[in-house]
Amino acid sequence: MVKVTYRQPDGSEQTLEGKPGDSVMQLAIGAGVPGIVAECGGSMACATCHVYVDDAWTEKTDTRSESEEDMLDCAMAEMKDSSRLSCQLRLTEALDGLVVHIPEEQF
Ligand code: FES
Repeated sequence: MVKVTYRQPDGSEQTLEGKPGDSVMQLAIGAGVPGIVAECGGSMACATCHVYVDDAWTEKTDTRSESEEDMLDCAMAEMKDSSRLSCQLRLTEALDGLVVHIPEEQF
């Protein structure tokens, strides 16, 4: 199993466990993590699943596609180097312990 910690703007955290291949969004939706709405269900058409990957993990995640960047441009919160659509971020064993931050603007 792969552990992912979701950190809220107020500093509170929720750690969940998923299987390799699951998306960071699916895991969050399954547990009702606040701030991740995922209106489009993962088809890269809404940007309501935007997260910031913690600095300690940005090197370990894969790179964003051009279409992901285009959608992130429309997100409510500012796009940063660490921005990802959590529906496009898939769990791998190498990401065990991943930490993502939920943008304040998504509330
Ligand atoms: S769930 Fe809509 S873009 Fe990720």
